[in-house]
This record gives sequence, C-alpha cells and structure tokens, in this order.
Amino acid sequence: YVFESGSDLARHVAHIVAGIIRERNALGQNAVLGLPTGSTPVGVYRELARMHQEEGLDLSGVITFNLDEYYGLTPDQLQSYHRWMHEQFFSKVNVRKENIYIPRGDVPLSRIDAYCREYEGEIERAGGIDLMILGIGGNGHIGFNEPFSVRNSRTRLCTLDPVTRRAAASDFFGEWNVPTQAITLGLGTIFDARKILLLALGEHKAGIIKELTEGAITPRVPASYLQEHGDAAVLVDAAAASKL
Ligand code: GLP
Repeated sequence: YVFESGSDLARHVAHIVAGIIRERNALGQNAVLGLPTGSTPVGVYRELARMHQEEGLDLSGVITFNLDEYYGLTPDQLQSYHRWMHEQFFSKVNVRKENIYIPRGDVPLSRIDAYCREYEGEIERAGGIDLMILGIGGNGHIGFNEPFSVRNSRTRLCTLDPVTRRAAASDFFGEWNVPTQAITLGLGTIFDARKILLLALGEHKAGIIKELTEGAITPRVPASYLQEHGDAAVLVDAAAASKL
C-alpha cells in the first residue's frame, strides 16, 4: 500500500491499531501488540497518543511486546529502546506498566537463554500477538534478525551486522560505540503474529522495499519471508515506493 506521505501512512496504521484495540475492549479481552522502535513508527505512536488524549482511545487492556533491545544497555540509558518507547509512546498513553514487555539489555550472559524463553512464554500466556508492527533495516532485517537468520528462530541474543551498526552510529556518537549484540524476537516468533504490518518511509528504503516485494524469498533478505505469511502487508510512502 502506497501513501502520499508519511503522515497519511501513520494515520492509516493508527486507525488499524485502534480498531483492534476497540474490538478487543468491547469483548473484554486484551489486544496484544508487537511494537518496533526506529524513526519509522514515530508518527503512528504520535497519532495513537492523540487518539488517546482527544478521542478517549482506551489502552488500559493492551499488552505490548517490543521487538528488540541492544545488548549491554540498561533500561535508562540514552540509546536504550526502553527509554525510547517510554518517551515516544508509553508516557503519553494508558498502557498499564505491568502489561509492557521490552527485552532487557542488561540480563547477564549466563541467564540469556532462560530469559529469552521466559519472554516467549509471556507472549504465549498473553494469547499470542494480534498485530505485529515492523520497520525494516536497509539490509532487509526485521527486529534485529539480520540477513541469514534462521526462518524458525525464536527470541535470542544475536550479533549485529556492520551495516546495522553503521546505521545506528549517530545515535551512539560513533560506530565504535554501537553495541555488537542485541536481543530480538526471532523470525519464527514474528511470523506467529496473526497480522503483520511492515512500514517503510523514505527514498533510502526504496531498494530494499523493491527486493522485499518483487524479489525472491531469500535468507539474504529476512523480511522476504513475509511473502509466505497469510496476513501481512507492506505500507510505504511514495519515496519508499519509488523503485517499484
Ligand atoms: C533498527 C531496529 C529495527 C528497525 C530498524 C529501522 O535496526 N532494530 O526494528 O526496523 O532499525 O529503523 P528506522 O525506522 O529508523 O529506519
């Protein structure tokens, strides 16, 4: 789906999210959302916050699972996704604190495997993810599932691609400060979501969007596995669609 602008796209996605939340609220059930960080979803979070503040959209029954976190960062560190999610979204809406799940980057190495299994367990206990929102890295990664990640992988500690570390360099005041590892939901975990929306904005994403939507399904582009999902859509602005 191609939108004229990023704000049109953000409004559209926020309405889909709000629709799922209202539907679940009406049934007295929790809506379970998988959430990304990065520059792409900022407009969606802003629009949802506006809907909460101005239209009374009630997120008190929403359960959220974030996709990933840099390994080695504490939740309050400047570049942590914990902090980012709080500043961009959670501080502006009424998702209950106990319903917010974000992988912790400061889990000791000896506990990582158990921790990742627990994170998966929480998703299962919540009844699985209703809607997973994704961005995409320039190399085709989703979450931090870099090229050649295993199709059925689960939540785990993974190594970042040099391309990804370079893209994050400005956030960390230099590439050498960017963590080399991260915790990410696995590809298998992501594809278990009942509905998936992948968003991309800007000309710098045009090449990978072409590969993702018109290219072959290949482990070189982890997002290309989305072609096999029963309910996945790619939503882009005109610039990200410019090579289609
Ligand atoms: C990071 C995140 C991804 C995100 C990607 C793109 O690598 N781990 O989840 O999709 O960046 O970020 P942006 O939206 O800023 O282009």
